[in-house]
Formats: sequence, structure tokens, C-alpha cells
Amino acid sequence: MIGIFDSGVGGLTVVRHIIKLLPHNKIIYFGDTARVPYGNKSKDNIIKYSIENTDFLISKGAKVIVIACHTASALASKILKKKYPNMPIFDVIDSGLNKALLVTKNGRIGVIGTEATINSGAHQAYLYYLNHKIKVFNKACPLFVPLVEENWINKKETLSIAKHYLSYFKNKNIDTLVLACTHYPILKGIIAKIMGKKVRIVDPSLETARQLKKYIYIQNRQNIKNKFQNKFYASDLPNKFGHMGAKLIGKKIKVKKI
Ligand code: DGL
Repeated sequence: MIGIFDSGVGGLTVVRHIIKLLPHNKIIYFGDTARVPYGNKSKDNIIKYSIENTDFLISKGAKVIVIACHTASALASKILKKKYPNMPIFDVIDSGLNKALLVTKNGRIGVIGTEATINSGAHQAYLYYLNHKIKVFNKACPLFVPLVEENWINKKETLSIAKHYLSYFKNKNIDTLVLACTHYPILKGIIAKIMGKKVRIVDPSLETARQLKKYIYIQNRQNIKNKFQNKFYASDLPNKFGHMGAKLIGKKIKVKKI
């Protein structure tokens, strides 16, 4: 059983790919809607929440953990991997960055995410570790999450805010941009349009699902679903979660409050 957590509903952008790529594996998802957003919280709190979320998923039978939240991945992934040495733990950072390294031609990579993610320096550190010649340009885009949550995807205000944030990359000559936040793939169309055809957009949610699929194949952990329904839990407002979640994964979901 694959246990996945995020600060809220955004992690379903990862789940939708996992469902597509691993349709026979059972999923249990926890969205921490009572404590969302993580993106402006302190490192200590993000670590504390991530441990609690992981414990919850393990208590429900998870055998693999996916940290779908980029903020939690940036600040808590290493700690979780140390704390649960026997549990395979995937985060949304390394798969996205590995892809970025594969596709960049000029070695200049942009990363956008929440304030906590960008301030953590996790992406730079990882890329520098893999290839110290890579130049990383980071930009926090804090308004993107509320805009997506309000479903302001196609509003002109969203376009102008996106133009404002992404103008940071003008003259940086990046050829690759990593969407390091659960919500940003929803804005991929706008972001790609602003960045232009020369910039390759990397969506870590898809890359994470691919990496997980590889792991499950190698481990031979494919399960045929019996009567198990994928399970979704939220720590607050399960109906709101269900409503937004249905839009993200394209079908109705039942959400339990814990
Ligand atoms: N899930 C968070 C992330 O991917 C975005 C929302 C939040 O700030 O909690 O960074």
C-alpha cells in the first residue's frame, strides 16, 4: 500500500499520475488541511507535521511513503529517511531534479516553489552535489498556491502575477524550469507560455510517479486491488477537500476526517 501525504489537496497532482501509472496499487492519502499551508511555516513545525503524517500513514498500513509536498520534501525528507530506515520514502525533489539534469543543455536551471522550499536551499544543494557546474536560479512564488486554491487559473490577474514572478528569470538564460510545488503543475500552461518555447518545464509530480513505478516493478510489489478503494483522509474540511480533489484527479472521492 502506497501512503502519500501533503499539506492539503495539492498532493493529488502527484496522486493522479500514480493512479495512472500504477492502477493496481492501493493508495492511502493524507492531506493536512487543518495545518495547510506549510510553505510559510518554520522548519521545526514542518518536520513535526511530516513525522506525524508519516506515523499516521504507517498506522494505516502504508509500506511505501511518498512525500507529495515539496515544502515537506525540502525540509523533512532527510529526517524522515533517517527516522524510518526500513521504510522506502520517496520525495518530490530528487526525481524532478534528476529529470532537470537530463534535459538541461546549458546547465542553467530555474526552480520555483513556496518560500520555505526556496529558503531551504535544498534544490541548489542537491544539484550542486550531483554536478557542481550547474547554475540554479530560485524564485519563491507565494501567491500561486492561493490562486490555484481559489481556482483563478484563467484569470488575467493570475497571468499578470505569474509574469511578475517569472520576470526574475529574464536575462538568467535558463533552459529548464522545475515546478517545485504541488500546485504549480495546475498553472503549467500559463508558466510555459510566459517562459517561452526555449524553456523546458519539469513537472516533478510526474517524475515522482515514474520513479515510484520503477521501484515497485523492481521490488515486485504490484498488487491487484481486491475490493480496496483508495482512501483519502483530511485533517479538516473533508468536503472542501473532496470537491477540489475530484477536480484534480478527475473523479469523485470520498474523504474521511481524522
Ligand atoms: N504542498 C505545498 C508544497 O508543495 C504547497 C502548499 C503549502 O504551502 O502547504 O510546497
